[in-house]
Amino acid sequence: MEAGIYKGLSSVNQDASALDRTRLPRHIAIIVDGNGRWAAQRGLPRVVGHREGVNVVRDIVRVAGELGLDVLTLFTFSTENWRRPKTEVSALMRLLIATIRSEIEEINRNNVKIMVIGRWDELPEAARREVAYAIAQTSKNTGLRLILALNYGGRREIVEAAKRLAQDIVDGKQHLAAVDETLFASYLDTAGLPDPDLLIRTSGEMRISNFLLYQLAYTEICVMPVLWPDFRREHFYAAIQDYQTRERRFGRTSAQAQVAVSVR
Ligand code: IPE
Ligand code: MG
Repeated sequence: MEAGIYKGLSSVNQDASALDRTRLPRHIAIIVDGNGRWAAQRGLPRVVGHREGVNVVRDIVRVAGELGLDVLTLFTFSTENWRRPKTEVSALMRLLIATIRSEIEEINRNNVKIMVIGRWDELPEAARREVAYAIAQTSKNTGLRLILALNYGGRREIVEAAKRLAQDIVDGKQHLAAVDETLFASYLDTAGLPDPDLLIRTSGEMRISNFLLYQLAYTEICVMPVLWPDFRREHFYAAIQDYQTRERRFGRTSAQAQVAVSVR
């Protein structure tokens, strides 16, 4: 299986039938990466890669729904992405708006609920309006929760959670002695969501890049060499298959972990 992930897909079973439906990850998070390189390899402007990337997002959201996943989180725009050339940032914002407009109908038909993490209140007005519309339009849906990380940075999320919690303590709404991991997590943008079981990063970079720093504590990581515009559902299935071969021990010994799995 590992060979499948790291040396291409030829040696793995490329369809969903190979997946153990009883052990699907509940939450998959993806660091979408490689759009720019994909375009550069073809001598095209970076934005063409982003456009192609949207087509892949559409298909992977469909697949996630078909598989019955609970949560799919996509790292769409980071707090650091503002450092890119202005033209690329505005192209990304326009693409976000256009994508919401063109996809909202199918998203709704598929019962997908759109949620956002990150400081999307700082997005340009037009993008903010469109995002608010997407959230409102899908708020009653009960299927896949599609989490878009927009203007998201893990450290900033943690610092802001700490500040809000501190303020609540100062205001007497919380007690310092009662602060634990569960309470702290309820102050994060991801409050109410399960932690990711599986993190996929495309384009081969071995970095977390300030994504979900708190929530990834025990997440299985699958880095794949494929550039995002070339990512297909077969890669998605392969990553899930790889995940299903992992033994999640959560700090326990292997023997203990196997008991824990069998009694679950
Ligand atoms: C990911 O692709 C898309 C976004 C973060 C918006 P990149 O734009 O990071 O592509 P590379 O890494 O330059 O190839
Ligand atoms: Mg990149």
